[in-house]
Amino acid sequence: MDLPEFAMFFQPTIIIFGKGVASDFSNELSELKIARPFIVADKVIRELGLLDYVLKGLTSGGFEIAGIFDEVPQDSSTSVVVKIAKAFTETNADAFVAIGGGSVIDSAKGANIIAKMGGDLVKDYSGSGILTKHLFPLVVIPTTAGTGSEVTNAAVIYDEESKTKLEFIDRFITPDLAVLDPNMTKTLPPKVTAFSGIDALTHAIEAFVDIDATTFSDMFAKEAISIITSHLENACKNGDDLEERGWMSIGATLAGIAFSHSECGIVHGIAHALGAVNRVPHGIANAIILPYGMEYNLEARPEKFDELSKILGVYDKHLSILENGKRAIEKIKEFEERVSKVSGLPLKLRDVGVKKEDFALIKEKALQDGTVIYNPREVTGDGVLEILNEAF
Ligand SMILES: [Fe+2]
Repeated sequence: MDLPEFAMFFQPTIIIFGKGVASDFSNELSELKIARPFIVADKVIRELGLLDYVLKGLTSGGFEIAGIFDEVPQDSSTSVVVKIAKAFTETNADAFVAIGGGSVIDSAKGANIIAKMGGDLVKDYSGSGILTKHLFPLVVIPTTAGTGSEVTNAAVIYDEESKTKLEFIDRFITPDLAVLDPNMTKTLPPKVTAFSGIDALTHAIEAFVDIDATTFSDMFAKEAISIITSHLENACKNGDDLEERGWMSIGATLAGIAFSHSECGIVHGIAHALGAVNRVPHGIANAIILPYGMEYNLEARPEKFDELSKILGVYDKHLSILENGKRAIEKIKEFEERVSKVSGLPLKLRDVGVKKEDFALIKEKALQDGTVIYNPREVTGDGVLEILNEAF
């Protein structure tokens, strides 16, 4: 590997992991000087008893719950974020605690901006690097192992007015504390476990081959790839196995650190387009596109794919770099098929309601996606169509 010309690593999040930590993190809250947390969650989290599990720990730790907003919808939006910020301000709370998947976490990140800064979320703050000061402390307790949002500086929020998903990228929205407890993910159904896990795997693989990859992001990406490919199948098969769940939580968080120090690429670009045009869930879209996106990129970063073959245990010293790279991609295909078998994860576009007539619009949206500029090979319209056809 060449010595990098420039590399940067910045990770302000305290990460704690352990079975039971989601109902016992008083020390960390006290260190952050939090006394009156405001909880953000959704109805499913409440119904599954996960909200009570966290609340019990907080109240027995002597914390006063300032308020609870547990109505974040599956696909949150700017109007929900404004409601959360208003509720937070009215209760005089001093910190956010987000309990949930990507939608809950990103809503809390957005609400934190408005609660601290005031103004209009979309007009004043969408984009990157706009904030100038620290927000309220944000604690995140993920209930999926996938998005990595518990350690990233990004939030994606749907704006009803422009009908687009807006990105907010800022170091000040990075959570202060991530609480990883396998008890919080053990009730996830196999299919959600599978597509969340493949989303995390895609973060790690794209971070590893992207143009912004550095030795720092590689370190996290490699470990994440190794952990996720070793544990996702079993986490789908044996949902209440806290060992498998625990490893998946760690793997997804490491993948989050990897891609927030590198970037995603063509797979996420097309996945975002599939989400916008056909409402294909993000992780499913990534699972379908990943092997074909890797094939598209193979010749642009053969040395990285060769290294990937070592991580995946299929490296053969008698073969060329390119041939080993191909073996890595075949291994990922085989891995996804195994995961699909135990979870029902769809692996073809035709199985998720995408039609060939949609390809032109998907292509257009993918080419406009912010991630594709970091892809190691230039993303062309023909390239996107080739991938879509192969994935059909
Ligand atoms: Fe993702």
